[in-house]
Amino acid sequence: MQNVLVTGGAGFIGANFVRWLLRERPSVKIVTLDALTYAGRRENVPEHNRNIFVHGDIRDRALVEKLLREHAVDTLVHFAAESHVDRSILGPEAFVQTNIVGTFQLLEAARATGVKRFHHVSTDEVFGSLGPNDPAFTETTPYDPRSPYSASKAASDHLVRAYVHTFGLPATISNCTNNYGPFQFPEKLIPLMIANARAGKPLPVYGDGKQVRDWLYVEDHCEALVAVVEKGRVGETYNIGGGVQPTNLEVVQRLCAILDELEPERRHAELIKFVTDRPGHDRRYAMNIEKIERELGWRPRFGLEQGLRLTVRWYLDNAAWVKSIQETGDFQKWMNRNYEKRGEVKQ
Ligand code: NAD
Ligand code: DAU
Repeated sequence: MQNVLVTGGAGFIGANFVRWLLRERPSVKIVTLDALTYAGRRENVPEHNRNIFVHGDIRDRALVEKLLREHAVDTLVHFAAESHVDRSILGPEAFVQTNIVGTFQLLEAARATGVKRFHHVSTDEVFGSLGPNDPAFTETTPYDPRSPYSASKAASDHLVRAYVHTFGLPATISNCTNNYGPFQFPEKLIPLMIANARAGKPLPVYGDGKQVRDWLYVEDHCEALVAVVEKGRVGETYNIGGGVQPTNLEVVQRLCAILDELEPERRHAELIKFVTDRPGHDRRYAMNIEKIERELGWRPRFGLEQGLRLTVRWYLDNAAWVKSIQETGDFQKWMNRNYEKRGEVKQ
């Protein structure tokens, strides 16, 4: 990995990944390509002499080909996506456009220019939903996506695999569980709960709050991705996860307890409000990470308590970043659209 094109580097995980590379791989040069949708923030991309920012769309094949050639890109790491499940329920089209058409255009550009590694960043949601006693997802669990978001990610995974088998594209795929940490857009569970709790606003827990997610601190994800890009076998898929599987309610209660310590003037858990569930809400995700541990020697380093504390601290220290997003018309519109009609559900 010498010259890397990072798509979606102004978003949450992409921005953390760019920072990780700049810090840990001193000879790597980066081109960050991002369309700066509502979720992409120019200020998330660090100013650095080894990082060039390009404002553009992954569906623009001519632009992508030009960047791959001009910068002699050997490695493409693909994060750019529409990523929020609730938005995919209220407006699926952008998910088809970016996640499916966008990935297709990138694959074509990579094929035409001959990159040495195409890494596709995907999600555990392609595997569907687990029952309480089902074993965790493995790399061979059949795909069973159940939301427009996960269906569009599943389609993009299939396209990547097709390009490996049909055209010999040197690609890898990783499917990861829920990330949390710095720079996560405050529409997602953890940053939304931190922001609302601090403002004394209701904490909207969907349904009974007993849905289970497998949480991974974003820095661990970045390390895992580098391990796959540097040491992973071409054509292979690697599952990545945190191995910690609390219910949503437990996560929200932990956040409230941490905030109670730091801002004792309020008992934050009193703000929890159960609201109408997400349609088609997946009940449980859990990832089996034996393959990446065995083959690449990666395992998560951050525990949930440690990661949540670091995350809360980051959001407290970066309140201006959150505020600048909350003040945009798009964010306010989204909050009204997604939460206004959700009635309170008594438990
Ligand atoms: P995000 O929504 O925070 O960021 C997505 C970025 O992609 C934004 O900067 C946005 O501007 C950019 N983008 C969107 N459409 C684009 C287009 N057409 N062209 C160029 N750029 C475009 O997302 P995230 O949470 O950082 O997720 C990154 C990737 O990781 C996604 O592919 C997602 O499916 C995957 N993933 C996320 C998680 C998670 O918990 N957040 C877990 C597993 C996998
Ligand atoms: O599993 C990986 C996926 O994790 C990624 O592929 C997605 O890009 C990412 O957004 C995330 O999807 P989730 O739907 O799991 O994340 P979200 O933060 O939206 O929600 C986490 C859980 O919390 C989920 O069960 C829904 C619930 N929730 C969410 C919000 C926003 C609530 O109870 N209340 C809320 O207000």
